[in-house]
Amino acid sequence: MSEQQLFKVTIDNITIEVPAGTTILQAARQVGGDVAPPAMCYYTPLEGSGGKCRTCLVEVSKGSEKDPRPMPKLVASCRTTVMDGMEVKNITSPRVKDARAGVVEFLLLNHPLDCPVCDQAGECHLQDLGYQHGSEGTRYEFKRRTFTKHSLGNYIQLHMTRCILCYRCVFTADQVTGKRVHGVLDRGDHAEIATYIEKSLDNDFIGNVIDVCPVGALTDKTFRFKNRVWFTKPVDAHCNCTKCSGKVTLWQRGNEVLRVTARKDEWGEIKKTEDGKTGWICNECRFERKNINDWVIEGPTKVSRQSVISANHYETLDKPQDTLVEVMGGRQPKMLMDIHSISDVNQPGVHLSELPGPATGKTFNKNNQQ
Ligand code: SF4
Ligand code: FES
Repeated sequence: MSEQQLFKVTIDNITIEVPAGTTILQAARQVGGDVAPPAMCYYTPLEGSGGKCRTCLVEVSKGSEKDPRPMPKLVASCRTTVMDGMEVKNITSPRVKDARAGVVEFLLLNHPLDCPVCDQAGECHLQDLGYQHGSEGTRYEFKRRTFTKHSLGNYIQLHMTRCILCYRCVFTADQVTGKRVHGVLDRGDHAEIATYIEKSLDNDFIGNVIDVCPVGALTDKTFRFKNRVWFTKPVDAHCNCTKCSGKVTLWQRGNEVLRVTARKDEWGEIKKTEDGKTGWICNECRFERKNINDWVIEGPTKVSRQSVISANHYETLDKPQDTLVEVMGGRQPKMLMDIHSISDVNQPGVHLSELPGPATGKTFNKNNQQ
């Protein structure tokens, strides 16, 4: 089969062409928006990831042009490749919505609802998933499974109680660092991420496990409890690092650098650098370079408008287009009047947030102002 062969696939009634071998999830991401299923364990840069969490389930209503029979069960879109003529339903399938709600309920069975004190709040994929696909209450009546907190060295804290066993950190340690000292121990309900006999994770690139963790199970000790992410301003910056690409996102408050992370794309995955490699960053850039003078600032990081981090965050300060000359056929106006001086509304001296109640006509009518 040629690599260049293109397959037609229809997802939620939108037809696109993708190279053979593309997974349904990657095809859906090309369409974008809500058509792309959520993914809690799949992570593009990590080989072998996916197939663990089942949040990406979709319905295949037509197998292919040659064999149009639907697939009897929902399939994990991160592990199923497209066939020519395949038809897939994600948000248009009530079965998928129902199954996803069930998966979220299972993921939250043992997960603590400690978002108000969790460092991942505001950028937690499970929090977003819970809001988008979960239900308001819980039907679970038993004691939740808990673990004691473990320190994984000077930089990383493990809260196993929050872990959803997605295996991303295990794949990262396996594929990005030279030496792996942690993994999943035990089975079933007892399974946990652990370093055998409490070792610390001290590899030069081990900090990347924090970036791949979709929940607050692995957190940065140099940032924990320093601030909430939505109060920080993320900016893209770089430095001349000899170990990694040096391309990072700085999370600032004023001129203070509170946190350094790798740059992420719209799916929350670490972006590729210009040379096509994944932009993993080294521990030194992540944990040791917290002085603004260590970095060359490139500009504000693009933050999704859906994210709470985008509140009060301006990526560009684009001046609105001045259409005055345009509507006057190219002529400059002879005189401009300040609307505030002739209008009873739009008074710059009136601060709505300082009014004791809602604004009324009296607020703006100069004659009636007390
Ligand atoms: S610690 Fe985080 S990245 Fe590792 S398996 Fe648990 S949830 Fe996944
Ligand atoms: S993202 Fe597909 S099973 Fe987890």
